[in-house]
Amino acid sequence: MPTFNIPPQIRLARPDELPLLQEIERAAGERFREIGMPEIADDDPPALHLLARHQRHGLAWVAADVSDRPVGYLLCSFAAGEPHVDQVSVHPANSRRGIGRSLLDHLAGSQAANGRTMLTLTTFAQVPWNAPYYARCGFEVMAEGELNRALRKKVEEEAAQGLDRWPRVCMRRRLAGVQTSPNTSMSAASG
Ligand SMILES: CC(C)(COP(=O)(O)OP(=O)(O)OC[C@H]1O[C@@H](n2cnc3c(N)ncnc32)[C@H](O)[C@@H]1OP(=O)(O)O)[C@@H](O)C(=O)NCCC(=O)NCCS
Repeated sequence: MPTFNIPPQIRLARPDELPLLQEIERAAGERFREIGMPEIADDDPPALHLLARHQRHGLAWVAADVSDRPVGYLLCSFAAGEPHVDQVSVHPANSRRGIGRSLLDHLAGSQAANGRTMLTLTTFAQVPWNAPYYARCGFEVMAEGELNRALRKKVEEEAAQGLDRWPRVCMRRRLAGVQTSPNTSMSAASG
């Protein structure tokens, strides 16, 4: 029997939950070992002060189980005024149950309600649960000429961290026509 509601409860993260988000991140990253990317699995999760900054600005959401314990989370920031998905992670014990998609849909709904027209992200092109997954969630790969200055900077920063050892892409999800469902209306963050 699932330990969470379907669709899962999505809400803003609370300050005391940030260490748990780090645990989710470590566990979610483990699957990169299976595909020969142990460096990614070994990467430290976002530092508590960075998580706290997202949380304070209302830009950290969790998917919570029936005990209200987070099993997945999403971080967003604003790059040149556009919402950007910094991280989405789901604990492997709860993966492939639509939790990641619900977090992305929640953000899409709240940002569409705020009049935003797209979500962007950067990700690994060939990792099955990265670019191919986001494509299934309504994202499309952006051509290099379509990147604004903020996205270019992000790509450069990620390359400086060594992430470009594997092919990377920028993706966008257009928000026109995205509806805010009752489950996504409680925490519309603005940039
Ligand atoms: C990406 C991630 C958040 C998806 O969360 P999720 O709740 O498991 O995803 P959903 O249930 O919404 O969607 C499931 C789909 O994701 C993809 N997927 C998830 N886990 C996968 C895996 N181990 N292998 C291949 N595809 C996978 C598949 O497309 C899957 O669809 P399917 O079950 O019909 O094959 C989760 O896999 C994760 O935390 N990954 C590690 C962290 C990461 O890479 N985050 C993204 C970069 S910031």
